[in-house]
Amino acid sequence: MPDTLTIIDNRTGKRYEVPILYGTYPTYGAAIRGADLRQIRVSEDDFGLMSYDPAFLNTASTKSSITFIDGDRGILRYRGYDIAELAEKSTFLEVAYLLLHGELPTIDQLEDWTCWIKRHAFIHENVKKFMDGFRYDAHPMGILVSTVAALSTFYPESKNVLDPAVRRKQAYRLIAKLPTIAAFSYRHRMGFPYTYPAEDLGFTGNFLKMMFERPGRTYEPHPVLTRALDVIFLLHADHEQNCSANAMRSVGSSHPDPYVAVAAAAAALYGPLHGGANEQVLRMLHDIGSIDRVPDYIRRVKAGELRLMGFGHRVYKNYDPRARVLKEMAGQVLEITGSTPLLRIALELERIALEDDYFISRKLYPNVDFYSGIICQALGFPTDMFPVLFAIPRVAGWLAQWQEMLEDPEQRIARPRQVYTGPDLREYVPIEDRS
Ligand code: MLT
Repeated sequence: MPDTLTIIDNRTGKRYEVPILYGTYPTYGAAIRGADLRQIRVSEDDFGLMSYDPAFLNTASTKSSITFIDGDRGILRYRGYDIAELAEKSTFLEVAYLLLHGELPTIDQLEDWTCWIKRHAFIHENVKKFMDGFRYDAHPMGILVSTVAALSTFYPESKNVLDPAVRRKQAYRLIAKLPTIAAFSYRHRMGFPYTYPAEDLGFTGNFLKMMFERPGRTYEPHPVLTRALDVIFLLHADHEQNCSANAMRSVGSSHPDPYVAVAAAAAALYGPLHGGANEQVLRMLHDIGSIDRVPDYIRRVKAGELRLMGFGHRVYKNYDPRARVLKEMAGQVLEITGSTPLLRIALELERIALEDDYFISRKLYPNVDFYSGIICQALGFPTDMFPVLFAIPRVAGWLAQWQEMLEDPEQRIARPRQVYTGPDLREYVPIEDRS
């Protein structure tokens, strides 16, 4: 069977043979090159055919070896490792290393990596002053986006993006400083003095301490809750070419320093359709209020009056494998923090929806946001911190995507085309003649 596609242009009757390229799996991720369509023309001065794909629903913008998703079968793998196995056996920092380096670290490599990340967790005192300038009620995600962009002015050497050693250092800084900035943004609003990073704690325990330590009291992060947040971080570390990864690659393709590119990616994540989705799930569960109101809610969803938040995903047409891990973890966390009706409502919603042909036929299954909001709230995070909790680990994925883009000889500055639908050439009308 030849690995080509035959196209017949019915406008001209001409026939074209276009090669098909494959990734690791021939039946998942086969593509033709968009540029191969350009030869399809009706005349010499025709620009050539383009593919029209609003929101990139079916466009591969890159080859990538970082994350694999088979949405039909509910599979997610980082560098070939299944997400459920990583969630069971690994840690966020180890996974961040894996995403950036392509392999799991040895004991020495992990020690070195952890040591560098800890060393870079502090932020310059001037950054702290910069953060002090925000209004008392500033949204923590707004603070995060602006402060990460501001880091660009502190590390001017970071614009040497083609130097791997320079890139490595910025990766340490970004992964390490995001939790500090996130915690400071929260404390700024609460009016608490900032808690500085503690070198004797792990990545996630240190973040919890910087967040929740009360002035005058010592804070010991609970091991089970720390592990739960670490797993949330690990599950959110990358998700191939999603909206924010695409922003990172697109902005990064013009070669600015990674701080402003990460700020752009974080801005993409800020949107309610991306990083803000779990907050909407929580709001929905609050609105439902009790288990006995679940059937009525489902009825109204089916009547088109309401939306079932946290169900369905752009790429998963099956159970999001991250949701499966979080569902189990929600139970463990609530056993420690005390139960809330929200989990019971969520479980009942899921039970009813997964037995209902309306949802089954539409392939609407729980996604990562369905249970993550419940866990984050139980851990004590206010809802406006949820996208920040998503950004902290996702920076590892953004950096891996950015690095891969910079090292890919086929990549150029991102420049999509358009199908122009505006007016044809017309003459300028002086203002006094316009009606
Ligand atoms: C993500 O993890 O980035 C979200 O599930 C969104 C997506 O992949 O499109």
